Amino acid sequence: MKDLLRITDLTGDDLTLLLELAADSQGTPGTAPSLLTHQIVPMYFAEPSTRTRLSTAAAVTRLGGTPVTVGPDELQLRRGETIADTARVMGSYAAAIVIRTFADADVADLAAAAPVPVINALTDGHHPLQAVADLLTISEHFGHLLGHRIAYLGDPGNVARSLMEAAALAGMDIALAVPPGYSPAEEALAFATTEAERRGGSVLVTHDVAEAVKGASVVYTDVWMSMGDPEQERGRRMKALAPYQVNEHRMDYARDDAVFMHCLPAHRGQEVTADVLDGGRSLAFRQAANRLPATQAVLYALLTDRLAGR
Ligand code: CP
Ligand code: NVA
Repeated sequence: MKDLLRITDLTGDDLTLLLELAADSQGTPGTAPSLLTHQIVPMYFAEPSTRTRLSTAAAVTRLGGTPVTVGPDELQLRRGETIADTARVMGSYAAAIVIRTFADADVADLAAAAPVPVINALTDGHHPLQAVADLLTISEHFGHLLGHRIAYLGDPGNVARSLMEAAALAGMDIALAVPPGYSPAEEALAFATTEAERRGGSVLVTHDVAEAVKGASVVYTDVWMSMGDPEQERGRRMKALAPYQVNEHRMDYARDDAVFMHCLPAHRGQEVTADVLDGGRSLAFRQAANRLPATQAVLYALLTDRLAGR
């Protein structure tokens, strides 16, 4: 397996290996400090990023390499050079390429032409690095993943999709409470349902918040307006998603020891109230910290050809 573009690139064993490597690198941050010596990892960000950009830079540095951030205005892409030509050229200097942009098709084109691993650092459809960090965080908190239920409330966008696919690959139970008209992608739902059931887990999509949250160990949400969402949709999205806000009342439906999770950045008062996000049950900042070992594990596994892929 050369690239990580989406969670469905991974087998269940691949995901387990990434979680083990990530847990190991938390204990021993200096694992493989020479893997990337004298090499660069270009990080192309067409959208803003705090966590992904800096945790990836830190992970590359821990592996001995030099991260180089580039934006859309700095490359000849802006002047019409093709993605394929850019990929071939970058690949002749770089050990791997990390990309955050809007269209998944652009990332697929880059990966197809690049001779080195390409890692999706968020697209409109997927956020695989986030999902690996999320499962690491749940496993670290509860000691294991099996038998735990995640309730995701709100917009079934990139973060929800990767989370659902990863939870299914890990054999967990996941329930998404979404507004009418906001279903997860059919392809993602089919994958998650098949993979979860094969492992004794389950996937539920409902409009009923209480049904999703009842018995959950984790209550998760993401912003109501993603970076790729058109501004003219804001009013409609805020109205449709308002009943799916995570607040203390909603947390009460979950298990007594349930935790709250959010990929961040958060909008207090929209998808989550400040008391939940900043409260004692919130793992949001632990998740953010775990982006570093998760990305270090992904880089290490791809660069040492440890993942079987599909
Ligand atoms: N969660 C996440 O990807 O955050 P950034 O947009 O800050 O990278
Ligand atoms: N769904 C959000 C996640 C940000 C990390 C977005 O795409 O903007």
